[in-house]
Amino acid sequence: MELILESLQMLNQLPAYRIGPIALLLLLAHNVAFSDKVELDPDQWGHEAGDKCVSCHAKASSGLTSEWRQSAHQAAGVNCMDCHQADAAEPDAIEHEGQIIATIVSPKDCARCHEKEYQEQQGSVHAEAYAIIESRLPALAHHVGGPVMRSASCDQCHGSRVAVRGDGTLDPATWPNSGIGRINPDGSKGSCSACHGRHRFSRAQARTPEACVRCHSGPDSPDQEVFEASKHGMLYAAQRHEMNLEAPDWVAGRDYTAAPTCVTCHMGAAGKLPATHDVGMRNMWSLNSPVSHRQFLVVFEDGAKMELPEEADIPRRGSELSRPDGTLAAVKVVATPERRRKAMSMVCLECHSKGLTEAFMTQFDAVVELFNEKFGQPAHAIMAGLYAAERLTPTPFDEPIEFTYWELWHDEGARARHGASMMSPNHAWWEGMYLVGRNFYARFLPEARAVAGERAPELVDAVIDGVESHQWLKDPHQPSLILGFGPQETRQ
Ligand code: HEC
Ligand code: HEC
Ligand code: HEC
Ligand code: HEC
Ligand code: HEC
Ligand code: HEC
Ligand code: HEC
Ligand code: HEC
Repeated sequence: MELILESLQMLNQLPAYRIGPIALLLLLAHNVAFSDKVELDPDQWGHEAGDKCVSCHAKASSGLTSEWRQSAHQAAGVNCMDCHQADAAEPDAIEHEGQIIATIVSPKDCARCHEKEYQEQQGSVHAEAYAIIESRLPALAHHVGGPVMRSASCDQCHGSRVAVRGDGTLDPATWPNSGIGRINPDGSKGSCSACHGRHRFSRAQARTPEACVRCHSGPDSPDQEVFEASKHGMLYAAQRHEMNLEAPDWVAGRDYTAAPTCVTCHMGAAGKLPATHDVGMRNMWSLNSPVSHRQFLVVFEDGAKMELPEEADIPRRGSELSRPDGTLAAVKVVATPERRRKAMSMVCLECHSKGLTEAFMTQFDAVVELFNEKFGQPAHAIMAGLYAAERLTPTPFDEPIEFTYWELWHDEGARARHGASMMSPNHAWWEGMYLVGRNFYARFLPEARAVAGERAPELVDAVIDGVESHQWLKDPHQPSLILGFGPQETRQ
């Protein structure tokens, strides 16, 4: 039974619990802008050993040194040692040319000078990207592919748990990667060079969609495809030179209007809405799950965060909540799904009317609800029934229907929902809900009936019978649509 539950959990989505320091949410919740830049203290940089690193590395690895030469860091006098210096006690510290250095410059190291970005990034869902896959790696990466696939694929996007060998060097099974939730030897999460290519570390480069689509493309997150096929992507491609990417501040509606990029909607400043390195805050739904949920965001007094689906018991401010790790903590702020939606809409309102924005959100939400009610919930209930009746083995991915189900919500199901949320009609329908429907009716249901055998009426058909949107199956129809598409008819 436990195994069954485990495999169901595997097919299910997202740990609800995400720890991280609070960052912008509080400010967002109180509608206070955080526009002042954090003051940097020049006493913190200009390490005297830096010149030696540069002169030798101009030959040893001239490419990276030349990138650093063109960076804001070089211009401000921040050198190699200012970032790579390490304490001998750190697990990955190595002695190199008379200095103690570490190859990994973790978010914590950057935080010495960039505390605000660090706090926001550590508190974001990005920082949890390794945690959300850790329990699923065996099934997806090891069984379906093979263990070596993990470092070449999952780790490159999600990040690895970096292992340090006895001599302080990094284990090639776990490094290099600049995964967004990588667990670093110092315990910090993620990699700032995931978006800021090194050693330029440019903010202009990070504002482009290209900074995101290395990871946000393909089945797990088809945003590159969706964005490029949208009107926003069309305008970005045509008017990129008007995007003012090099500007010191980059406020939508003020510093640029030509098009929104991924950063505009998910991280960027717009009107009174401040910029943030916490990418998840403006998202109301969980779109990458067998069934989508509207999500509350709970922030605790100690800075931890937790996302809760609206069906859960939502705590009040000031109350205490028991967390999955057993600790009891006081709730500081609860952001409702509506509040998160409002933050996202503030971005749209810099370029669109309230009417367009609200009407668009109505269309988008309706697609998510359709997916949930018609396909997501029934398919999930049928799978749960088949596992409970022991018609399926608890081992994930050893039976055809497990692949069918996985692709239903994960591949085309995510494409439909991402397509509708980010304005690509093609991905909402042809690459999305059309394929969901085809797979549901023509693969999933027949396979489920075959697996259920004589119990099909109860385990499969009873579930579908209860759903209004499947009643058309019982209506009398002529085969006109399928047979009728002739040249005469399409020209009418
Ligand atoms: C006398 C030349 C020389 C000096 C001085 C020097 N390095 Fe290196 N460094 C090298 C060479 C050569 C390598 C190995 C290059 C390779 O693997 O391709 C290397 C490797 C590295 C690595 C990568 C280690 C790894 O895990 O792959 C880092 C990081 C590094 N150096 C940083 C620094 C810093 C910071 C300084 C200044 C304290 C510095 N280096 C000074 C020559 C030098
Ligand atoms: C702003 C901070 C910063 C500065 C300044 C900096 N580095 Fe790095 N460096 C990084 C980060 C971040 C990484 C990526 C390590 C990781 O997370 O895997 C890195 C990686 C490296 C690597 C190993 C990875 C590779 O691509 O080969 C070398 C070698 C290196 N740096 C050398 C240098 C040298 C030499 C300088 C000075 C010219 C320098 N760094 C300046 C942050 C910095
Ligand atoms: C090209 C980059 C990339 C690769 C490779 C990748 N992922 Fe993902 N994955 C993502 C992104 C981006 C998301 C976030 C999707 C969202 O929230 O919209 C994600 C989400 C997930 C999720 C959450 C729910 C879901 O499935 O969408 C799981 C679980 C997951 N990935 C597991 C894995 C595993 C295991 C591997 C390797 C076998 C892997 N991923 C490979 C980028 C990647
Ligand atoms: C998800 C991609 C992403 C990651 C990861 C990321 N950044 Fe950024 N960063 C950006 C973008 C985009 C901008 C430009 C924001 C803007 O101007 O709207 C930026 C801007 C910055 C700036 C300039 C801020 C300013 O006010 O001009 C600093 C400093 C910075 N990032 C540091 C970091 C540090 C430190 C980390 C790791 C803790 C990090 N970033 C991780 C995308 C990222
Ligand atoms: C020792 C201090 C120090 C460290 C460590 C440091 N930075 Fe910086 N960073 C600076 C300074 C100074 C500037 C220039 C600020 C300015 O021009 O206003 C800067 C600027 C930036 C910018 C803006 C660049 C642009 O295009 O204007 C980014 C992005 C950035 N840093 C990222 C990082 C990342 C990522 C790390 C860690 C890998 C890091 N920094 C480590 C001091 C530091
Ligand atoms: C190195 C890979 C990588 C890069 C680069 C990256 N992401 Fe992500 N992103 C992920 C992964 C993996 C997840 C899933 C994390 C999770 O659910 O914990 C994710 C999740 C997200 C989410 C979903 C948050 C939610 O509510 O669930 C958004 C929005 C997002 N990223 C936006 C961006 C933007 C914008 C950029 C570029 C500025 C970017 N990402 C760059 C890998 C990446
Ligand atoms: C015009 C604004 C806009 C642009 C541009 C945009 N997005 Fe989105 N994105 C949204 C909205 C709205 C949602 C749905 C938010 C919600 O859940 O309510 C969304 C959802 C997402 C999600 C799903 C998060 C989840 O809940 O699973 C990811 C990941 C994401 N976007 C990444 C990106 C990336 C990467 C790009 C660029 C290639 C991008 N977005 C461009 C507005 C935008
Ligand atoms: C930086 C400005 C900017 C931002 C921010 C922005 N958009 Fe747009 N959007 C545009 C422009 C310009 C167009 C093209 C108008 C046109 O030609 O129809 C457009 C087109 C659209 C369209 C297609 C309308 C049609 O008639 O075909 C929709 C829908 C849309 N945006 C929704 C949104 C939503 C929702 C948001 C916020 C999540 C948003 N936009 C954010 C600039 C922006």
